[in-house]
Amino acid sequence: MKEDGENFLVVPSTDVEPFKGVLKNGVRRWSPYRSKLAALAKKTGGFDGLLPTNRALYLGAGNGYTVSFLADLCKECHIYAVECSHTSSRDLLKVARHRKNIHPLIANARMASSYMTTVPTPDWLFQDISQRDQVEIFLSHLPFLQSRSVAILILKVESLSKGHSINRALDAAADALSLHCVVKETVSLEPYEKMHGALICTR
Ligand SMILES: C[S@@+](CC[C@H](N)C(=O)[O-])C[C@H]1O[C@@H](n2cnc3c(N)ncnc32)[C@H](O)[C@@H]1O
Repeated sequence: MKEDGENFLVVPSTDVEPFKGVLKNGVRRWSPYRSKLAALAKKTGGFDGLLPTNRALYLGAGNGYTVSFLADLCKECHIYAVECSHTSSRDLLKVARHRKNIHPLIANARMASSYMTTVPTPDWLFQDISQRDQVEIFLSHLPFLQSRSVAILILKVESLSKGHSINRALDAAADALSLHCVVKETVSLEPYEKMHGALICTR
């Protein structure tokens, strides 16, 4: 993991559209305050065991900010990026136009079976969807993964319940997930993302 001394990660990159103005000396600066994957890498001390190898499924791709860095970091990997908002998708499509390894899917992640038939079996899952049923959405994708895949759930505590601490919400989510996969680690993403945590699992 390379850093620039100002809290940013740096990733070799040649093209930044639509996130203009961040290219510097052939690298882009990746902010852990804007990306939960970057925040997770900062909190765990690097990307060891966190990145995909062949085929990644990314749920809640938004405008493609994190997906663009992931695509530059894992050039050999194909990233299937699911996003339901047509507004966010406009930028995601621009990002994908300039990178052959991003495959956008404009779809509702609550309906996995409507698009997973078009996705080659992923060996990595990352979900960043701030919805009440975030745990259920994550669980509904586990059966589509290769065995021993890494599956990372970003948990927004406020979407689950008001008044829970991060640790309590992470423990409750870990209990629910552990019936279906192995929860290796739970990580609070503070101070980068308030009231967010991550569960790193293997299936
Ligand atoms: C926190 S943002 C994602 C930010 C993005 N992961 C990044 O780091 O660049 C969450 C995204 O999930 C999307 N989302 C919410 N519910 C969804 C659903 N049911 N299916 C697909 N995407 C959904 C939202 O439209 C939003 O763009």
